[in-house]
Amino acid sequence: MDKKVTVVGAGNVGATAAQRLAEKQLCDVVLVDIAEGLPQGKALDLAEAAPVEKHDSGLVGTNSYEQTADSDIVIITAGIPRKPGMSRDDLLKTNSDIMKNVARSVAEKSPDAILIIVSNPLDAMCHVAYEASGFDKKKVLGMAGVLDSARFRTFIARELNVSVENTHAFVLGGHGDTMVPLPRFSTVAGIPITELMSRDRIDALVDRTRNGGAEIVSLLKTGSAFYAPASAAVEMAESILKDKKKILPCAAMLEGEYGIKGLFIGVPVKLGSTGIEQVVEIKLTDEEAAALQKSADAVRSLVDAMAAL
Ligand code: NAI
Ligand code: 2OP
Repeated sequence: MDKKVTVVGAGNVGATAAQRLAEKQLCDVVLVDIAEGLPQGKALDLAEAAPVEKHDSGLVGTNSYEQTADSDIVIITAGIPRKPGMSRDDLLKTNSDIMKNVARSVAEKSPDAILIIVSNPLDAMCHVAYEASGFDKKKVLGMAGVLDSARFRTFIARELNVSVENTHAFVLGGHGDTMVPLPRFSTVAGIPITELMSRDRIDALVDRTRNGGAEIVSLLKTGSAFYAPASAAVEMAESILKDKKKILPCAAMLEGEYGIKGLFIGVPVKLGSTGIEQVVEIKLTDEEAAALQKSADAVRSLVDAMAAL
């Protein structure tokens, strides 16, 4: 393969992302983890599935960064996940230390890579990766909006008994309880859901989307969601690797767009081979703008809390 993607963290999200990347034949994959044997074992297991799955993607696992050199993309999932009763913010201290070290190591070996951050608390971890890597803001982005939108799309499709392929949805803001699903821009075959469902039903689906991560945590009991998160990260990687220029909701460093400055937060961006090629600004109603601002305030307080750690 002429493209190389490193996935740091060979746990549930990382290994599933590696599997999807390889099976879609998008790139060679290097899986990195601190746990000895874990990335090597998972990479070998995935490689041994290749003859059956019919792909030629290279897969290696390692505990160091040597083999990650010159990666086109690095997906960072390293960290600890939520357990029942934990909020994403409880992960702040542990995961910010991990992210700092990982982002520095990655930047040293792959100075031209694009970083897709997955570890939680997502928006705050993007800040850590951005500062520790020293990369341009176009090359650091966070995965949350694609996942949250996919959850919203799933609930819309089930509610209306239509194909998920007919659905589109936009969820902006931080990846937390203050995220901002936008029903006005969420459609079925191009028809806004505001024309297809009552306000009460939309509110219920919006609520379920906001709690989508916690819903899975409470069912799994030993960790958090990973199939849909891995799919979401790989959709972002694919748009970059193939220069598809998809518009996807991603956490991006804003410099005044949407009236927000110096903060990573979820907004629609155009993703191509150079990373974030455009932050797409849509005109929000006063209510939507206030919800986005409230979400930005929540992210800002986490970033401030991190600075005080
Ligand atoms: P997991 O526990 O299955 O895997 C995490 C892996 O990171 C472990 O294998 C661990 O050994 C590794 N790790 C820890 N420190 C490391 C270091 N310094 N270097 C390399 N590897 C290291 O967790 P899972 O379920 O894969 O989740 C990973 C992270 O992604 C969590 O922080 C979780 O909250 C977050 N997440 C974020 C989502 C989002 O929408 N942004 C969705 C799902 C998970
Ligand atoms: C999720 O939304 C835990 O952030 C993770 O599933």
